[in-house]
Amino acid sequence: MSNGASSRLEFLGQLAGGLAHEIKNPLSTMKLTLQLLQEDFSQDKSALAMRSLRKIELLLKEITHLDEIVQEFLRLSRGHDLKFQRTDLGDMIRELVEFLGAEANQKSVTLRSQLEGELDGIIVDATYIRQALTNLLKNALEATEPKGGGEVIIRARRHSDVVMVEVIDTGVGVAHANRERMFRPYFTTKKGGTGMGLPMVRRIVEEHGGQVTYESVEGAGSRFVLLLPVDPNRRETLQAMIRVSATPEAPATPAAPRSRRRALEVKPGSPEPGETQAGES
Ligand SMILES: Nc1ncnc2c1ncn2[C@@H]1O[C@H](COP(=O)(O)OP(=O)(O)OP(=O)(O)O)[C@@H](O)[C@H]1O
Ligand SMILES: [Mg+2]
Repeated sequence: MSNGASSRLEFLGQLAGGLAHEIKNPLSTMKLTLQLLQEDFSQDKSALAMRSLRKIELLLKEITHLDEIVQEFLRLSRGHDLKFQRTDLGDMIRELVEFLGAEANQKSVTLRSQLEGELDGIIVDATYIRQALTNLLKNALEATEPKGGGEVIIRARRHSDVVMVEVIDTGVGVAHANRERMFRPYFTTKKGGTGMGLPMVRRIVEEHGGQVTYESVEGAGSRFVLLLPVDPNRRETLQAMIRVSATPEAPATPAAPRSRRRALEVKPGSPEPGETQAGES
């Protein structure tokens, strides 16, 4: 990139960051004022007050949505302040499956985990990795719900200095036309979606020296793959794998099956060793 172009980009970045800050304060004033109005109107049981209350609720919902977008924009543009600590990824994944179990049950989706190898002592920022995995799992559950009776699996395996985490679903898959824009900020196909989930996942994983890729078959499901170094100071193995995978002959994700169909093969049925299913403790 030329010097001119990069300084223009930097300037645009600062401008956008400034704009987001300027939006934040009036938004919170609007929210507070609406909450006060909500309190006032809820004392009054007249038809007019009821109608006004519904409008206030709608406005509050929109403001909350805008607020989330601005907050996430600021986090993405500033970068996350990572605090690395030894983490048991196995425990984290079991807890997430437990935590999202009720939501999965409600949607009639089976949610389970498959854990292999030593997953303790992985050096990550646990808060952000949990957030990234939660985003992927929520997307998977949301994609599976419209078809009903589907399955979501989170699988983690360690290969020497690299941990591979896969989130696999038997959901609606990604339409061909959307393939390229999945990770673009604000791209969403959901009512009320921010389109910031996947950009945030990518940002967090890359800040850990990792990589995120996905494959999908429309109507059959999707598989998101995270590769993370077990220690950010030992990221060379992963960087080497990524360099190899960037060559035209190599698969998109190292150690991943080449066949897309196979990648999405999710066999419902009895749990394998090391598996946890939502609802189990
Ligand atoms: N597992 C998946 N299966 C099918 N499509 C997916 C999957 N995950 C993401 N997508 C598509 O990518 C889009 C962007 O996802 P992202 O998580 O960034 O935002 P979102 O889920 O739409 O909104 P939010 O995360 O704020 O709820 C989704 O709207 C959906 O179209
Ligand atoms: Mg999402």
